[in-house]
Amino acid sequence: MAKPGHALPGFPLPLRGPRVLLRLPRLSDAPALAAFLNDPTVSRSMLRMPFPYTLQNANRWIRQSRRMLRAGQAIHLLMENRENGELLGGIALSDFDWVQRSAILGYWVARRHRGNGYAGEATSVLSRTAFRVLKLHRIEAEVFAFNSASAHVLRKLGFAAEGRKRQAARKGTRWFDRDLYGLLATEFRPFLAPPAKGRRSSRR
Ligand SMILES: CC(C)(COP(=O)(O)OP(=O)(O)OC[C@H]1O[C@@H](n2cnc3c(N)ncnc32)[C@H](O)[C@@H]1OP(=O)(O)O)[C@@H](O)C(=O)NCCC(=O)NCCS
Repeated sequence: MAKPGHALPGFPLPLRGPRVLLRLPRLSDAPALAAFLNDPTVSRSMLRMPFPYTLQNANRWIRQSRRMLRAGQAIHLLMENRENGELLGGIALSDFDWVQRSAILGYWVARRHRGNGYAGEATSVLSRTAFRVLKLHRIEAEVFAFNSASAHVLRKLGFAAEGRKRQAARKGTRWFDRDLYGLLATEFRPFLAPPAKGRRSSRR
């Protein structure tokens, strides 16, 4: 079991799903990352994502990710298409609490790759490994109440809605409700890959 202030022993990287590879970010990812994240549909749904999102933001995030992994504080990964190496999105587990054996999940998928089940697959692979290897008991996610697509991804993997935090987040001048989702190790349902690629376009 990893302890605070240490790396995460035994955590296998990269992780592989049927179609998605989850790997550590590299400095050479910064331009693609900045291009994908400079998108209001991402920043409006993520608590601490700046907009506009610059190359400098991307470089800082990559360096911070390395430091956090070395310290055992967070695992920030990029999702890549296993077939062609294309960057698809990002996913992270952070705020490890080794007493309660819990962590917080976050993810995003580049707009043009949404609706293909990539968020579901990446969340499934990362959660399964975190339960098995890190022996987490619980994974949490907080979702803006308007974010039906993200809530859908979580529910399909077994996450339960655990309540609404009213006006818990401020974006610009507006306050937004946030919904809390939780998944216990015993409740995890692996993601079932869709039958074909590009099966539908996302409604978001
Ligand atoms: C949320 C997000 C990560 C989903 O990524 P994705 O790769 O498209 O997700 P998936 O394809 O795995 O699953 C999306 C599911 O939501 C459904 N969906 C899409 N738009 C929806 C909507 N407006 N209402 C309800 N369900 C919706 C899809 O039909 C799909 O369900 P299905 O697999 O049963 O058909 C992506 O939209 C995104 O990056 N949004 C911006 C950032 C964000 O919201 N991050 C999450 C913060 S908690």
